[in-house]
Amino acid sequence: MKLFDVYPLYNVTPVKAEGITLTDDKGETYLDFYGGHAVISIGHSHPHYVQRLKEQLEQMAFYSNSIKNPLQEALTRKLETLSGCADYQLFLCNSGAEANENALKLASFHTGKAGVIAFKNSFHGRTSAAVAATDNPKINAPINRQHQVDFVSLNDVVAFEQLITRGNHCAVILEALQGVGGLDEPTSEFYQLVSKKCREHNVLLIADEVQSGFGRTGKFFAFQHHGIQPDIISMAKGMGNGFPIGGILIHNDLQPSFGMLGTTFGGNHMACVASLAVLEVIEKEKLIANAAKMGDYFKQKAAVVPEVKKVKGRGLMLGLEFEEEVGELRKRLIYNQHVFTGGSANKKLLRFLPALNITSNDIDLFFERLKNEL
Ligand SMILES: Cc1ncc(COP(=O)(O)O)c(C=O)c1O
Repeated sequence: MKLFDVYPLYNVTPVKAEGITLTDDKGETYLDFYGGHAVISIGHSHPHYVQRLKEQLEQMAFYSNSIKNPLQEALTRKLETLSGCADYQLFLCNSGAEANENALKLASFHTGKAGVIAFKNSFHGRTSAAVAATDNPKINAPINRQHQVDFVSLNDVVAFEQLITRGNHCAVILEALQGVGGLDEPTSEFYQLVSKKCREHNVLLIADEVQSGFGRTGKFFAFQHHGIQPDIISMAKGMGNGFPIGGILIHNDLQPSFGMLGTTFGGNHMACVASLAVLEVIEKEKLIANAAKMGDYFKQKAAVVPEVKKVKGRGLMLGLEFEEEVGELRKRLIYNQHVFTGGSANKKLLRFLPALNITSNDIDLFFERLKNEL
C-alpha cells in the first residue's frame, strides 16, 4: 500500500514540539512561524493543554451525542465569555470544511434557497458545498460544480448588488481576512453594505472564521474589526491547538430543528477539553492582546526590510509580499535557517501564522534568519 500524496513534502520529520519550536528526528530545532496551517494557537504541547487532555483521557475519551456531555456546556459558556457572541447557539463538528458545509446547509434550510455568493480568491474547504464556494477550479470536481455559486470581487459594490437582487441566494460566505487567498480584506463599509443587503434580501451572512478566529487577528473573531454581526460563524483550526474540532455559532434568530445537523464525532469529550484548555490559556495569558501587540511589532520590523514590498494582515495572521515568487525562499528558510513559514494563492506572499504567545524575541530571531536569506 502507498500513502496518498496530500501535499508535496518538505524533507523534515518533526518528532517533538514545544512552544514555538519543533525538533526533528536528527535533533535539529526549527522555529515554527506557521503553526501547521494556523492550528497551533497556544503553542505546541502547552503544559495546561497537555494536563487537561491527559486527565480527560484517563477519565473518558468518547461517547456519542445521544448522552449529556457537560463539557459541551462548559465550552459553550467559555466561548460566549471570550468571544462576546452571546446570542448564538453552538453546534460542534470536526473540521473547517465540515463547519462551512453545515453553515451553508443551514442557510439553505432556513431560507429555502440554494445559491451562494462567495468572494474571489476565497478558500472554504474541500467538501461538497464548501469547495464549491472556494475560488479554485482545480479542486472542484464536476460533482461540486453542481452547486450554484457566484463569485464577486472584494469591494465590488455594483456586482454584489446585482447578484444579491436576483433572489436565489441563501448565503453570502466571507473570510473577514482571507487566508489561503493571500490576506486581502475589503473596507469595513463594504462588509457593512453586504450585511445590510443580506438582511434586506433574506440571505444569511456566514463569517468563515476557521483560520482567523480564536484571537488570531487581535480580536476574538476577525469580523469584529468591521462592525458586522453574522448569522452564522464557522470555526476550527486554532480551536483545538491540534486536536481536531470545528463548530458553528448559529444566531438565535435562526430556529434550526432536531435532525437538521448531526455528527458522530463532533463535540466529543477529548475535543471539548482541548478547546476548553485553549480558551483557558487564551484568557489567562491574555493572548488576544498579545496577538495584536506582536502583530504590530512584526509590522514595524518588516517595514525596514528593503526587499519587502508590502506587509499584509492583522494580529498574527500576517504576510510579507516580495517582488519575486517566494517558493525558493520558503525552502531556504526551512533548510538553511530552520524556520517554517507558509505560502498562499499569491505566489509572491510569504505567510505567517505563529502561536499567539510568541514574544518579541521570537520575532527578532525570525527577522535575523529572514535577512540571512534575502
Ligand atoms: C478560511 C478557511 N476555511 C475553511 C478551511 C478548511 O478547513 P479544514 O482544512 O479544517 O477542513 C480552511 C483551511 O485552510 C480555511 O483557511
